Amino acid sequence: MDFSSLVNPSVLSQPVYEPGKPIEEVARELGLDPATIIKLASNENPFGPSPRAVAAARSALEQGQLYPDGGCYALRHRLARKWDLGPEQFVIGNGSNEILELIGHAFLRPGDDVVMGAPAFVVYKLVTLLFAARAVEVPLVRHGHDLKAMAAAITPKTKLVFVASPNNPTGVANPAADLVAFAESLPDHVILVYDEAYAEYLETPPDLRPLIRAGRKIIALRTFSKIYGLASLRVGYGYASAEAVRLLGRVRQPFNVNAIGQAAALAALDDEAFAERCRRENRAGLAQLEAGCRELGLECVPSDANFMLVRVGQGAAAFDALQRRGVIVRPVGSYGLPEWLRLTVGTREQNERLLGELRRWQGSR
Ligand SMILES: Cc1ncc(COP(=O)(O)O)c(C=O)c1O
Repeated sequence: MDFSSLVNPSVLSQPVYEPGKPIEEVARELGLDPATIIKLASNENPFGPSPRAVAAARSALEQGQLYPDGGCYALRHRLARKWDLGPEQFVIGNGSNEILELIGHAFLRPGDDVVMGAPAFVVYKLVTLLFAARAVEVPLVRHGHDLKAMAAAITPKTKLVFVASPNNPTGVANPAADLVAFAESLPDHVILVYDEAYAEYLETPPDLRPLIRAGRKIIALRTFSKIYGLASLRVGYGYASAEAVRLLGRVRQPFNVNAIGQAAALAALDDEAFAERCRRENRAGLAQLEAGCRELGLECVPSDANFMLVRVGQGAAAFDALQRRGVIVRPVGSYGLPEWLRLTVGTREQNERLLGELRRWQGSR
């Protein structure tokens, strides 16, 4: 008997998550100098973490022999102050990805329906299928969530609805008023998972806290991986009612968030000037990429996030060609968008290089 005959069938139904390749791997495979490679594939912050976060992480490492605070006391209290909620309303995860999985553990049962956009962040489907629930995928409209169609897709069997705004991989945000109305319209047996991974890039992100305070079943998710530049340390958080957080706590491993990540995240929250600078630079970078793509005659999707879809015709071929030249971007064929690439906004110089390589690729065809 082999392992496959023993496996939980839900494991085999998992879609494959294709992460952006690390720089070292691309260098090894293609014989390139890692120092010359730029990675604009995973919506990371090209300006790195705040120096204050780096200093805090270094200092936390000195106590590396100790287990971390499993309850993330300081970070939860700091977040409670920032968001004017109770510390008992925050769950901290090993990236917001882990909280997506905790939500599956806590709430999904075989046969439940889970409504999500298509294309949307692939982990929603992954978690849904892992728990033998059914993914009800609602096509996007103009690259954003079709909230009316999503509301119409809800049945008595629906347990969860995933909405990311801005959405990944398209970068499009739904208007705040539409999101609030959608959240208000959901029946009481449905939990809205409102994924705000890129919300810090919006001028005025929608605020669902009044609905959470009013007892609506909403779990909002944020991350330190994007504007705070801490993707490698894996820290994300959710906020919801204290009851929802308690339930998520029951399926959480005791030391799920490491001490270095906790310290860095805490310090990052004290450097809003850094985040503000990144927000400004990102806006300029989006404009630069949009103008550059337009010059090349390439259609792009105006983005509210730190990445942008551009239609190059043959996404996989363009990805290969750029990667061979040391520029890693993201092909999105697995999201049903084979003609497109997803470009993460880099520094001004990185964006220039990316546009130059796109021009070169166009010329070589
Ligand atoms: C929409 C969305 N949600 C969640 C995540 C997960 O972020 P993390 O696990 O790094 O917090 C990502 C990462 O790319 C994302 O795009």
